[in-house]
Amino acid sequence: MTPLRLIVVGLGARARTWLSVVRANPDVQIVALCDPDARARDRAAHDFPGVAVAADLSEVTGVAADAALLCTPPGGRDALIETCCAHGIAILAEKPLADSVASASKFVDMAESAGVPLIVGLNFRYLGVTQALRKALDGGDYGSPEFGRFLYERWRDGRQPRLNKYPLTMPHPMLWEQSIHHFDIMRYVYRAEPAYVQAQTFNPSWSMYEGDANVSALFGFHGGIRVNYQGTWAAGIDRLDFDWRTDCTGGIVVQREMFGNLAAGRRHDAELTPIPLPEHEPWISDATDLLAMFVAIFRGAAPECTGRDHLQSLYMLEACIRASARRATVEIEEVRADAMPKA
Ligand SMILES: NC(=O)c1ccc[n+]([C@@H]2O[C@H](COP(=O)([O-])OP(=O)(O)OC[C@H]3O[C@@H](n4cnc5c(N)ncnc54)[C@H](O)[C@@H]3O)[C@@H](O)[C@H]2O)c1
Repeated sequence: MTPLRLIVVGLGARARTWLSVVRANPDVQIVALCDPDARARDRAAHDFPGVAVAADLSEVTGVAADAALLCTPPGGRDALIETCCAHGIAILAEKPLADSVASASKFVDMAESAGVPLIVGLNFRYLGVTQALRKALDGGDYGSPEFGRFLYERWRDGRQPRLNKYPLTMPHPMLWEQSIHHFDIMRYVYRAEPAYVQAQTFNPSWSMYEGDANVSALFGFHGGIRVNYQGTWAAGIDRLDFDWRTDCTGGIVVQREMFGNLAAGRRHDAELTPIPLPEHEPWISDATDLLAMFVAIFRGAAPECTGRDHLQSLYMLEACIRASARRATVEIEEVRADAMPKA
C-alpha cells in the first residue's frame, strides 16, 4: 500500500516524539515540515533532507499530501484548520483541539462540512495500562464501577528548556494541557459521558504558572459513576504521584503509576492482585498505536478520538472553570448548549 503522505506542522517539543514515531512507521511518509521558527526549520532541513520545509502550511499546499499532524500550541489554529479543510487534508491535531470550546466546536463543524477526518492526539488512551484498566472494568470480575478517585500530583518545572513555554502564561494550564488527558481517559475507561461537575481551580502561592495549576473536581457521569479528581502541576515536592482507584460493586481496580502498576481485588481479598500489562515504552508505544489508528482510517477502519468525541472532554474542562467561578454545580448540558451554533 502507498504510505500516507503527512505534513508535520509545528516542530517544537511534542513534534520531537512524533517525528521519531512517524519515521519508524513505514506506512507514513513525511512530505513537508512547517514552523515559523527559523531554528526549527534548519533542524528539520538537516534531519529530513529533500523534504519541503516552510514557515507556514499555506506555503506547502502544492505538495501532494493526505494528512497534516498539528503540533502547534492549541491557540491560533484557525488558519491551519481552514487550510486543511480547503485542500481536503485530513487532520491529526494534538490535544487540546483549541483553546476554547467555541473554537473547537467550530473546527469540528468545519471539518465535517468539508468531509475531512479530524482526529485528536489523545495518546493516553493507547497506554497499555489504560487498555488493561478498561478491559478489567469491562470484564465484570469486580462488578460495576460506581465511584473513582483520580490523583495526579506533579511538580512540573515549566522553565525547563525541553518543555514548551506557553503554558507558563496561559489561563488554566493544568486543565487545558494536562487534565484534558485525564478527563478523556475517564470517559474512555468508564464508557460514560459526564453529566455535571462541582469544582475549584486555584494556584498555590509557589506556583510558577500565571493561570491556575490546581484542579479539584467532583464529576457525576450519566449512569451514576462519580469521580473525585485532583490534579496539580505545582505539587509541594518534585515528583509525580499518580493514583486512580475505581470502586465497584464487588471490588476495586487501582492504577498506581501513570504508565503501569495496575492491580485489583474482590471485596474480602487480603491483598490486591497485579494485572499483567504489555511491554510499553512511555510516549513512544502510545503514539505509535495512535498513529496506526490514524493510518487505518484511510484503509477503512472506524475513526477513534474524533474531534466530535473530544468536545465532550472539553465541555468537562469548561464546566470546571464555570463551577469554580460560580462556586456552584455546573451541568455539562449548559456548556454543550452554549457551544451550539446560534440560529
Ligand atoms: N499528547 C501529549 O502527550 C503531548 C505532550 C506535549 C505537548 N502536547 C501538545 O502538543 C502541542 C504542541 O506542544 P509543544 O510542547 O510541542 O509546544 P512548543 O511550544 O514546544 O512547540 C510548538 C511549535 O509550534 C510552532 N508553531 C506555532 N504556530 C505555528 C503555525 N501556525 N504553524 C507552524 N508551526 C507553528 C512553534 O514555533 C513551535 O516550534 C500542544 O497542543 C500540546 O498540548 C501533547
